[in-house]
Amino acid sequence: MTARWPLPTIAFGGDYNPEQWDRSVWREDVALMQRAGVTLVTVGVFAWSRIEPEPDRFELDWLREVLDLLHDGGIAVDLATPTASPPPWLGAMHPETLPVTADGVRLTWGSRNQFSPSSPIYRARALAVTRAVAQAFADHPAVVMWHVGNELGQVDHSDVAAHAFRDWLTQRYGGVEALNRSWATDVWSQGYRSLAEVQPPRAAPYHRNPAQALDFRRFTSDELRSLYREQRAVIREHDARRPVTTNLMGFFALADYATWADDLDVVADDAYPDPADPRALTDAALTQDLMRSLRGGQPWLLMESATSGVGWRAHDLTKSPARSRLESLQAVAHGADAVCFFQWRQARSGPERFHSAMLPTAGPDTAVHAGVRRLGADLARLAPVVGTRSSAQVALLWDWPSWWAARGEAMPTDRLDPLETLRAWHRPLWDARVAVDVVGPPADLGGYRAVLAPALHLIDDIVAAHLRAYVAAGGTLVLGPFTGVVDPSTHLHRGRTPALLGDVLGAGVQEHVPLPDGGVTARWRDSALGTEEVRVHDFTGHADALDPLTEVLLALGPADDLPGLEHLAGSAVVTRRRQETGGTTGAGTAWLVTGVLPDVDLAAVLHRALADAGVEPFLPGAPAGVEVTRRGDALFVLNHTAAEVHLEIAQLALALDLDPATATLTDLLTARRFTTTDTPVALAPQGVLVPMETR
Ligand code: GAL
Repeated sequence: MTARWPLPTIAFGGDYNPEQWDRSVWREDVALMQRAGVTLVTVGVFAWSRIEPEPDRFELDWLREVLDLLHDGGIAVDLATPTASPPPWLGAMHPETLPVTADGVRLTWGSRNQFSPSSPIYRARALAVTRAVAQAFADHPAVVMWHVGNELGQVDHSDVAAHAFRDWLTQRYGGVEALNRSWATDVWSQGYRSLAEVQPPRAAPYHRNPAQALDFRRFTSDELRSLYREQRAVIREHDARRPVTTNLMGFFALADYATWADDLDVVADDAYPDPADPRALTDAALTQDLMRSLRGGQPWLLMESATSGVGWRAHDLTKSPARSRLESLQAVAHGADAVCFFQWRQARSGPERFHSAMLPTAGPDTAVHAGVRRLGADLARLAPVVGTRSSAQVALLWDWPSWWAARGEAMPTDRLDPLETLRAWHRPLWDARVAVDVVGPPADLGGYRAVLAPALHLIDDIVAAHLRAYVAAGGTLVLGPFTGVVDPSTHLHRGRTPALLGDVLGAGVQEHVPLPDGGVTARWRDSALGTEEVRVHDFTGHADALDPLTEVLLALGPADDLPGLEHLAGSAVVTRRRQETGGTTGAGTAWLVTGVLPDVDLAAVLHRALADAGVEPFLPGAPAGVEVTRRGDALFVLNHTAAEVHLEIAQLALALDLDPATATLTDLLTARRFTTTDTPVALAPQGVLVPMETR
């Protein structure tokens, strides 16, 4: 029987690299996979030199044998194109397929990923091996999905890349005049006579052109995406129906995944939260919300994660099986229909021999493997949530070109990282158990009660019009520091920042102000938000209210507390403009936060903005550190604290839109039933509860 995607349960498994093992191990693997409840493995990711040991000589029988064995064992396969790691022969025969850094260093084989995405020779070879694999296995009954390459993320500054960059620029600009305008090449005598003179942003004596740098980022993302698309097209020649994907890397800086999403049949992500980082799991929730949002809420796949250590951190903390379980179930809570690991069997050799796996070198009789078996059983019980979706009342806006533009050279400060700002704004929402989507600024915002743009540094007229329309229709918009500063060519918008939204905000920034260490003082003007003095740190705007409808809620000063910066006294740090009806800018509310606030003060502002917008959190009375999401008719409650917590069943019922007086709930993980007359449910530290109405 041919296995079908989606699988009927939450898929469970990992990367499987049988080419690293003797045949005799393969059978043992399948037997152990079955015992652990594994349903899906990704095969062939790094097998190019085994599949094509010499140019045009393909060896696929071993792979067929592996797929047969897996299929006989009832395990489905996500079959990879092995294009992430070319064999040494490719670089040896064609050094121009090897990537070059901005400093002119050509990278070589002996590791992995040594290819230029722009190299026509690499591409031709990658398509040839893709064709061989697709042709041989498109009809194999084990295959349920295709996995193109691996973590596409290469960047190249070679002559090959320069050539491709020029083609890309020709598409974008038509000719050199438009490029000269967009790149403002009159600055520092950079005027080009022809596109043939244009280079990637290589090592240079001083700061490089920001517009060139931004276009190279866009080009690199498009180049990687086109690799994916080419391989997918070859797969499609042989298989018209199985989903094709590639594994993303969360908020990965080299690829604008928002532009990739349409090309993926299903979003897949690799995630390695750092156990040493106390914020890792809050930030993981944000990444998972991005993954769910990329394709409009469609369930996604956790394609790689680690059962314990990863081997690539300088000091590599391990995790407990309980933590690994919590992380895995958190992904499901945020929309994942698969939980997979790197990798099934721990490597004995190579750079990843100290990376954890589902089956450790020490064998199945280990704590890690016992945890894996437990997780397999848990996931099997979550079958009712497969395919279900979530809804959110709040959108966080995220935009890769904004991120790139804000992280360029020669900025007012290097302490403003849009991703860190996004995370800082997300944390108070997570703490308050507010569901969020993470969407691009051109998304349809109509369904959201509040839209937060913590770090939208780059704004064009279209996005500004979109945000203006959202507020005019009654929405609540909250903008963060250094927002709306540049256009798509990195030129500053004229006027006070964010100039394109000045009317909606009734406020604007006249100067960007990096702050001395220790920050500066600000005072609340609205005591409902706070009464204590606030230390604005790292950065603020010198901002004013420009409109009678605009209230300044937090302002710098007084002058005595701003030595050397007395002129900033009264500068607005938080403003709010509420327009009921009748005005030219419509009925909504627009907030501007111009400075970097301490967490507690940022939380006060965001919680107020959301409460005013009527956003309803899950389980309002539950203790801090209890995470709650809803997928379809199931609730996920995750205890991230070190203490047992107690949950009111009526509150759980309310979060599921059930009558709190009569509802009966069943925890999918334990089959335990609760009625609202029972005493509160106890949830152990790192415990997870998945209540659903009893059917
Ligand atoms: C990922 C990669 C895997 C493996 C893993 C180790 O980036 O896709 O192949 O190397 O990291 O954590």
